[in-house]
Amino acid sequence: MRRPLALLAALPLLATSACGFLGGSEEEADLQVYSARHYDLEAAFDAFTEETGLTVEFLNGDDDELLERLKAEGQNTPADVFITVDAGMLWNAAEQGQLAAMDSPVLAEAVPADLRDPDGRWAGLAMRARTVVYDPEAVDPAELDAEDTYAALGDPKWRGRICMRDETASYTQSLVASLIDLHGRERAQEIVESWVANDVQVMSNDVELLETIDAGGCDVGISNHYYLARMLEEDPDFGVALYWASQEGEGVHVNISGAGVVEGSDAPADAQRLVEWLATDGQSQFVDDNHEFPVNPDVEPEELIAGFGEFERMPVDAAAYGSLNAEAVEVLDEAGYR
Ligand SMILES: [Fe+2]
Repeated sequence: MRRPLALLAALPLLATSACGFLGGSEEEADLQVYSARHYDLEAAFDAFTEETGLTVEFLNGDDDELLERLKAEGQNTPADVFITVDAGMLWNAAEQGQLAAMDSPVLAEAVPADLRDPDGRWAGLAMRARTVVYDPEAVDPAELDAEDTYAALGDPKWRGRICMRDETASYTQSLVASLIDLHGRERAQEIVESWVANDVQVMSNDVELLETIDAGGCDVGISNHYYLARMLEEDPDFGVALYWASQEGEGVHVNISGAGVVEGSDAPADAQRLVEWLATDGQSQFVDDNHEFPVNPDVEPEELIAGFGEFERMPVDAAAYGSLNAEAVEVLDEAGYR
């Protein structure tokens, strides 16, 4: 029996008793998941229940909110598993003592080393590529710089033609953190300033960004790949194409959605079993509905995104994205990116 819980957004962060937030009369499931994924998890959890007999309930919120809630609840938390949508946030949750180490040969086998914590406190479960998208009626992909595609959007030829995501999005912040990690702060600052000098149009979500390109409001932009996959699923003639960035350089910037066992969990073995299942038998169930790439190299991506073709990716450095987040925010602010 798995049921989604109410949205957390409006609730004050209160320490609750073990079953407090379930509302007393509700029967408690075996596992409680705090999830920042705003995508459907029910099918995957139902399949897990069918295979293992363990029931799962989940609570949605955003990464920051849920981490604050875990910290406030401490050892009294009802949560067993924390799922985030950003590598930096996984690092952050571990750094703040909210995740218990998993000693898991299963995860070591299923998840590439850069997509999991060396100390076993979290593992990536789904990969999302933040790459360049363009209007094929306005842009010949040969015009894009294959070596450093992100930085080259600062070339004056793109003036007034680029759309990007707003400065408050973790997607933007982790991309800029990766630029700082790669090129140093000074160069990252120059890159962001060159986008601003090109009159970048800043959008509040990736769907709006893609729709703007489709409508001719921008020629080129940066988006997570799965939003484009969603648009193409609805309308195969949607007028935006994907370009795998920096294939002759450092590779595409990717981020992960991943999970760890909550430090205060009263069922850490079952919680670890869920994380392991999501990385193995449950991989396709977990990633396919949202058109994400499996982290497990033995699992094939679903058809639509497989059609985007193979790509080289930058290694994910969760510690860098997490520890450079504040600097990334400063770089964006100082560049006047908004
Ligand atoms: Fe997203």
